[in-house]
Amino acid sequence: MRRGRIAAVVFGVVATVALGGSGFAAAKEASLKELMAENFAGLQNILFALISSNYAAVPSQVDVIQDHATHLTHTVPDSAKQNRDQFLAYAYSLKAHASDLKTIAELLIEHDKAKPSGDVLPMDQLREAAAAHYGGMVTMCVACHNRFRQRVIQ
Ligand code: HEC
Repeated sequence: MRRGRIAAVVFGVVATVALGGSGFAAAKEASLKELMAENFAGLQNILFALISSNYAAVPSQVDVIQDHATHLTHTVPDSAKQNRDQFLAYAYSLKAHASDLKTIAELLIEHDKAKPSGDVLPMDQLREAAAAHYGGMVTMCVACHNRFRQRVIQ
């Protein structure tokens, strides 16, 4: 009897966590969740590329995040209906940072291929600009989640 109740409570907690802020709209948003998990993996790969100054993996990983940002602009969840503009601003800003990061990464790949050693001075600042756009992307992840995914982190 008691065990049954405990099991029911545990199940309820698990279900609540699994459904997150979106409640029973979870099924509809399942694909968004999958995309987001890919975002997360992509960020780790990009960070590794940035700190090792080896940018080969960056453009394709950034493409994934950029596609997801575009997807977000078309999929405003119920939790953001009241603040649609703000949600969209975060999504577009994520997209802009991703696009700039990709442009810089492509430049650096070309540069490093042509001049594998030496002549690094002007390009070093670009490496830092790439890191700043990475930071900009992470800021948008946190901003949007903080506003619109609150129940998950509570
Ligand atoms: C414009 C808003 C927005 C931005 C920007 C955003 N996300 Fe999300 N994210 C969401 C929403 C909405 C969900 C919930 C999807 C669902 O419930 O199915 C979500 C869910 C997730 C999840 C699944 C876990 C959870 O909380 O449900 C992960 C992981 C995630 N996002 C990672 C990221 C990463 C990494 C970034 C930045 C590269 C990012 N997100 C940027 C809105 C955003």
